[in-house]
Amino acid sequence: MASAHSGSSSSSFTSTALLAMATTSLLVNSSLLLLSNMSSVMIVKLDYGNYIVWKHQIEVILDTYSMIDVTDESITAPDRFLKDSSGNFTAEINLAFIAWKNHEHAMFTFLNSTLSPLILALTVGQKFARGVWRVLERRFASISRSGVISLRNDLNTIKKGVDSIDGYFQKIKQAHDRLAAVLVFVDDEELLHIIFDGLPFEYDSFSSAIRTRSDVLSMEELNVLLNVEERVVKKRPTNVDSASLVMAVNFHS
Ligand SMILES: *[C@@H]1O[C@H](CO)[C@@H](O)[C@H](O)[C@H]1NC(C)=O
Ligand SMILES: *[C@@H]1O[C@H](CO)[C@@H](O)[C@H](O)[C@H]1NC(C)=O
Repeated sequence: MASAHSGSSSSSFTSTALLAMATTSLLVNSSLLLLSNMSSVMIVKLDYGNYIVWKHQIEVILDTYSMIDVTDESITAPDRFLKDSSGNFTAEINLAFIAWKNHEHAMFTFLNSTLSPLILALTVGQKFARGVWRVLERRFASISRSGVISLRNDLNTIKKGVDSIDGYFQKIKQAHDRLAAVLVFVDDEELLHIIFDGLPFEYDSFSSAIRTRSDVLSMEELNVLLNVEERVVKKRPTNVDSASLVMAVNFHS
């Protein structure tokens, strides 16, 4: 960019340019101050498990301070030098470029301060906030909207299968936590339905008995009850035909 002119740039500062530079550096100092305040507000530093939470947090802060443009790919750096009326570059420095560069630098320092040491290793060599942002987006691209949908699907389709009740709850909890890490929260009542839906038919009468209760069980209560039911189910003969099964279920309830 304008490399042919760079040799003469040092001699070309006018007093207007100097004044404007002083003004932009004042502005930048205040935005740096703002950003360093923001990084003390930031609680969650980015690590490998909390990208969505971190990103959301950054976007809220940047949006609040009208600095969201750091994440906007379509905004490109202004030219370093001004152009003359015929469109050729002059040796005069473009103040918009200086402001942009200082803004970028402040953003970079801010973003850098919100990364945990492991993540810092990913951004080595990046000199601009935009670059850091892009590297992180690429690295964590799998946790996109479709990622959230598939995490949700994972939770909804968990089946007890041959797992123990505790093993089944463990799987449900892990899927629940993975969703929580991307800011999708599933409440207990919905979890109860998911748990019932994933139980094998041996638990049908138990499930309908619980479902008709007017109060909502906590996860812990349901876990205790299901552990009891598991022992009952295990005691039943394994190769029952459907008639004796119905009898067993009726007998139990
Ligand atoms: C602008 O650049 C073109 C091509 O490099 C050159 O022919 C032209 O004379 C320049 N115009 C001015 C005003 O210097
Ligand atoms: C980024 O932050 C780390 C630790 O917070 C610091 O050691 C490092 O010097 C910073 N890098 C830059 C280029 O500011």
